[in-house]
Amino acid sequence: MKKSNGRAQWSSKIGFILAAVGSAVGLGNIWKFPGKAYDGGGGAFILIYVAIVLLIGMPVMLSELALGRNTQSDTVGTFRKLNKKFTWVGYIGVIVAFIIVCYYSHIGGWVLRYIAGYIIEPNKIFADPKAYCYNMLGYSIADGSSFIPWTAIIFAAIFIAANAIIIIKGVEGGIEKFNKVGMPALFAILIILLVRVITMDGTGEGLRYMMTVDFSNVTFDTLLTALGQAFYSLSLGMAIMTTYGSYVPKSENLAKNTALICIMDTIVALVSGFIVVPAVFATVGSESVGKGALFAFVSLAGVFEQMPGGAFFGMMFYLLLFFAALSSCISIIEGVVAFLTEQFGCKRKSITIWLCIAMLVIGSVYTSTQAAFGIKGIWFDFKNGVTYPAFCDFMEFITDRVMIPLCALGITVFVGWFWKPQSAVAEVESSGVKFKLAGVYGFLIKYVVPVSITVILAVSIITGTTLS
Ligand code: PFF
Repeated sequence: MKKSNGRAQWSSKIGFILAAVGSAVGLGNIWKFPGKAYDGGGGAFILIYVAIVLLIGMPVMLSELALGRNTQSDTVGTFRKLNKKFTWVGYIGVIVAFIIVCYYSHIGGWVLRYIAGYIIEPNKIFADPKAYCYNMLGYSIADGSSFIPWTAIIFAAIFIAANAIIIIKGVEGGIEKFNKVGMPALFAILIILLVRVITMDGTGEGLRYMMTVDFSNVTFDTLLTALGQAFYSLSLGMAIMTTYGSYVPKSENLAKNTALICIMDTIVALVSGFIVVPAVFATVGSESVGKGALFAFVSLAGVFEQMPGGAFFGMMFYLLLFFAALSSCISIIEGVVAFLTEQFGCKRKSITIWLCIAMLVIGSVYTSTQAAFGIKGIWFDFKNGVTYPAFCDFMEFITDRVMIPLCALGITVFVGWFWKPQSAVAEVESSGVKFKLAGVYGFLIKYVVPVSITVILAVSIITGTTLS
């Protein structure tokens, strides 16, 4: 549906909710959250995480959605319309979204590779999970040779092509339609996997670990990790929600929708934690719970190998990751495409294709520097001085440690102190329903949120802590 001003709009309430949940629910929930919850002590981390989502995640998401709906613009246009001095916030959002999508889309390709792998050659994966994964990434463990990771690149190209088709079809015809199928499929697979794990022998210990609240191991680092994870998981600080907010009709209650999106995203993270951690405890042992790429592609193979019906459930797990990754990836690309079409008058179709080609090429460097080639980035923090991390890590450092918190800080300072919480509240109430928590929201967005983000930013630059 198009509005009188020519902008696209979600055609239904459920269409918007599913798209926003689709953006939030991604690789972050399914493979990052379980490892972090385990590291952070199980139940204690979960409580901290939920508190952060409520006190920090929700006000920031509401602000982003309100900004977008108010201005009816892409991210950069939003700030340009409201206060030109803050246009840099929009630019950071777009740049960070582009860097993230370059690697996110390649990981989507690896996921596709593993769906195919679990269907056609599960025994090969089980025989040597690490060798299989490294082989996809262009490195042979057997003879120590490196080569261009064509397998990963070809699968990334397929994944990126799927994104391009959906984006070119537009907001209602592509994004909304895909999510109406993809999100229910994701929830169904999640439930199947949860039932599988709960009915498996030996998962009691892991389930207990996740439900035991013990604050004795909680450190300042745990808080930072939870904060970084919440931003990433809720797709905040990248101006994606601003763009999605600009497609929301005025009649929608933004506060209620924000709560719903945050709750759904958190439920998926928790359920993933309750699937992955107990399954790893029961099979390969608790010390194997980890996070990041190698955990999701290497250690989990051991879990599926020992699980009755493992090849099938392995395939289901990567299918779950596929739906999660695709709906998130679409949202990031849409943020960049909206910016380029609205600010520079680019054609949706051609700019999407160019963007996708750039993602494939830059992402290939990300994939190739995982194991095969030693291209380095450069990094500085006060604890370690100047270091030269692998290029793939460099891409994640610069987005997670610096740009996301900076963009989120810009958004909250702008909404809290320049645009003013009253304007956001007025936007929320334009649906005709009173926003009962307006006072609490104003306090959080003016004080609690900016202070917390400043702390993350400062600590990550000083100590080099990895936040996501
Ligand atoms: N929220 C997604 C996840 O948890 O994997 C990742 C993501 C999507 C980050 C969209 C940023 C974004 F704009």
